[in-house]
Amino acid sequence: MANADLMDKLVSLAKRRGYVFQSSEIYGGTGSVWDYGPLGVELKRNIKDRWWSEMVHRRDDIEGLDAAILMHPRVWEASGHVEGFSDPLVECANCHRRFRADLPEVESGQCPSCGTRDVFGEARQFNLMFRTFMGPVEDSSATIYLRPETAQGIYVNFLNVQGAARQKVPFGIAQIGKAFRNEITPGNFIFRTREFEQAEMQFFVKPGTDEEWFDRWMESRMQWHKGLGIREDRLRFHEHGPDELAHYAKRAYDIEYEFPFGWKEFEGIHNRTDFDLARHQEYSGKRLEYIDPGSNERFIPYVVETSMGVDRTLLVVLADAYREEEVDGEERVVLGLSPDLAPTKAAVFPLVKKDGMPELAEKLHEALRAAAIPAFYDQSGAIGRRYRRQDEVGTPWCITVDGQTTEDGTVTVRDRDSLEQVRVGSDQVVAWIRDRLA
Ligand code: GAP
Repeated sequence: MANADLMDKLVSLAKRRGYVFQSSEIYGGTGSVWDYGPLGVELKRNIKDRWWSEMVHRRDDIEGLDAAILMHPRVWEASGHVEGFSDPLVECANCHRRFRADLPEVESGQCPSCGTRDVFGEARQFNLMFRTFMGPVEDSSATIYLRPETAQGIYVNFLNVQGAARQKVPFGIAQIGKAFRNEITPGNFIFRTREFEQAEMQFFVKPGTDEEWFDRWMESRMQWHKGLGIREDRLRFHEHGPDELAHYAKRAYDIEYEFPFGWKEFEGIHNRTDFDLARHQEYSGKRLEYIDPGSNERFIPYVVETSMGVDRTLLVVLADAYREEEVDGEERVVLGLSPDLAPTKAAVFPLVKKDGMPELAEKLHEALRAAAIPAFYDQSGAIGRRYRRQDEVGTPWCITVDGQTTEDGTVTVRDRDSLEQVRVGSDQVVAWIRDRLA
């Protein structure tokens, strides 16, 4: 399948089946902003829950935080974003559309929109932060920003969390939340958007131990992605060269996935040194030092950051899971999501709409819901079509109530990937699924 086709098919499936919709579609859409539908919101929650469980619940050296999106404007001066978080922008003198100056077409002198040559003037820096006003007066003293990364909410709370949770360095703070960037050239569906979610963790360490912690976090994050079931040959590291490093980073690696549109970053691991805490100390006038309780040594910790885009990870999961194959001479589309991530774990069908089968199937569906196992009931159409509908959204197991159920109380459980069918007692189905999810 051609890669462009694959993206078109993914976008179409995502919309048709309720994973992702264009924002404000009935008004013609909002540029590069997306809404998650009933299945998308579940998949996203499952990815975030897995991250939170790994980072916060399974460790005692990382605390959680949910800081506000709106922060004091000085935060963004201290962080360097007011001065440096910008892309070079040029405007076409013919069609007046604006582009990033470093796009290959623009560099070759041609407008990517109208095709006219040699129409660009001098590039100017365009700050990517969204600006708004706080309070009733719209003047520059009321200017406030939508955060372009969640990390700063963690730095300004570093001592609050450390003191309240009685943590000792090394320790980390994890946060999941929205971030906003007024990207000049967004695109590729949910890959580059103007509103997105980040799952970030800042690990505070003693200076001198930062390199070692950096290596550990690189390894640990790559393992986590492999644990989602992502194909290993489509994952790799990319080290930032000196001209790619962000203003705060001493060393940085991206975790990249081979998307249908090429190898691209979806998580970054950064050694941010003491840049952020030292700058906040300078700009706020408040000490942000840590005092080692054993040695009484004072220092500003170094930070090793892991920064994952939740939406990009969701796109990785979808792109990696999508396949088309032939079964018994018929084509089927499958989302081979790991059961843990799949939005719906099981679908329940009566084989036919008579002989008490719908009643038994409804009862089973209710038992699954009562056990908080997301399940779907479907009695319409041929059984083969019902299977296909579930394969396409990634439901791992289809459970059919048939003639034998009315005799011995067993149902058929069909596996999405192997197509193997086993009989399970209908009163055992909840435990059977729980076992497999565990
Ligand atoms: N705090 C560090 C930081 O924000 P980044 O490399 O700029 O680093 C981290 O962003 C991750 O956030 C990226 O790897 C990506 O997954 C996600 N991200 C950044 N910009 C994005 C955008 N415009 N749309 C969707 N995800 C984005």
